[in-house]
Amino acid sequence: MSDTRIADIKGRRVWDSRGRPTVEVDVRLKSGASGRAIAPAGASMGSGEAVDLRDGGAKLGGYDVGRAVNAVNSEIAVALASMDAADQAAIDQAMIALDGTANKGRLGGNAIVATSMAVLHAAAAASGVPLWQHLAQDRKVRIPLPEIQIFGGGAHAARRVDIQDFMVMCPGAASFAQALEWTAEVYLAAGHIMKQAGKLQGVADEGGYWPAFRSNEEALDTLVASILKAGFKGGDDVAISLDVAASEFGKNGTYTLALDDRKLDTGAMIDMLGRWCEAYPIISIEDPVAEDDAEGFAAFTRAYGDRCQVIGDDFLVTNAARVGKAAADGATTAVLIKPNQAGTITETRAALDAGKAAGFGTIVSARSGETEDVTIVHLSIGWDAGQLKVGSFSRSERMAKWNECLRIEETLGRDTVFAGRGALGFRR
Ligand code: PGA
Ligand code: ZN
Repeated sequence: MSDTRIADIKGRRVWDSRGRPTVEVDVRLKSGASGRAIAPAGASMGSGEAVDLRDGGAKLGGYDVGRAVNAVNSEIAVALASMDAADQAAIDQAMIALDGTANKGRLGGNAIVATSMAVLHAAAAASGVPLWQHLAQDRKVRIPLPEIQIFGGGAHAARRVDIQDFMVMCPGAASFAQALEWTAEVYLAAGHIMKQAGKLQGVADEGGYWPAFRSNEEALDTLVASILKAGFKGGDDVAISLDVAASEFGKNGTYTLALDDRKLDTGAMIDMLGRWCEAYPIISIEDPVAEDDAEGFAAFTRAYGDRCQVIGDDFLVTNAARVGKAAADGATTAVLIKPNQAGTITETRAALDAGKAAGFGTIVSARSGETEDVTIVHLSIGWDAGQLKVGSFSRSERMAKWNECLRIEETLGRDTVFAGRGALGFRR
């Protein structure tokens, strides 16, 4: 057995897909094996998330991470020195105790999650297998069903439209490779339609076309037209998935649709989304109501959860206790899993396990601020999450992840099982 005790930890500042500073961590073990990871960053965040440590002030818009990098190189490096990288739970517990806050704000969620993921990578390297395989051990895993954005919106597109993600899923695809090919056709068709309409204005934060639309419905109509133009029948092979990200425009039971110049209460919001579910081939909706609207979540799930996957993101913030409560209340049918919402690999895994125990769909997800780091792809496969959300089909911080998943599907060869339609979580 190689010596998996930690020899050295080094944090540094690197840059994310929005050109903002973020934290990268290298971990070296006594055996010489090493691991590296980079913290991602959200823009439409749940209030219950682990908090990134940023320097504030005028420099770099306050986004600099000097203090977080310093936390890695001083306190965290000292506390984890000589600990066993193969004992992820002990590593993560040590950082949680060292930080001492409920939201990881003292050392920084960015410092802690990058370290936690780098330790995991080092342990995988020591075992001599790819990360997904290190996590899967001898268990059978599936290649996830991807959820891929075509139009950006919400906080990722200067609030040009209210809804944040207009996405497609390919439940009829036979493989991950085929799902990507079909999505590429839809993305291409959407580009042609936008160009012809004189609406091609670049892309939003996650690589989806900039949403130069007059209404949320126009975005939906254009998405359906793109699916048809690409040669698919909407619904069976290629379906629509939305992230409403309603916490961004709703609070205390009032939702302000800026684009449509309307205020809706929870009931009207649910009715509007319900009408969309009737009119469009929608199979998944994330955060249909705001994070403070648990009753609204349960009402939406009661009404539509048998045919539309209802995902909690800001509402559940990758927190096992919140997932357990949502299951008990019938508030969602699926949970989004973002490592940096929880702050450590151990807590992320616990939230995923809670989702699986509840029979939920589980979707490992990127953030709007990303990098070349592909850890989440390995988590999705190695933990057999069944679904993966990475943003759109352009910009290399997104494509790096889709491409990594393609490679792993190829590695598995004849043993590959593509999660497909069966990975979606519905109310039973
Ligand atoms: P964020 O949003 O990464 O900007 O927080 C992503 C999402 O809401 O799924
Ligand atoms: Zn979301």
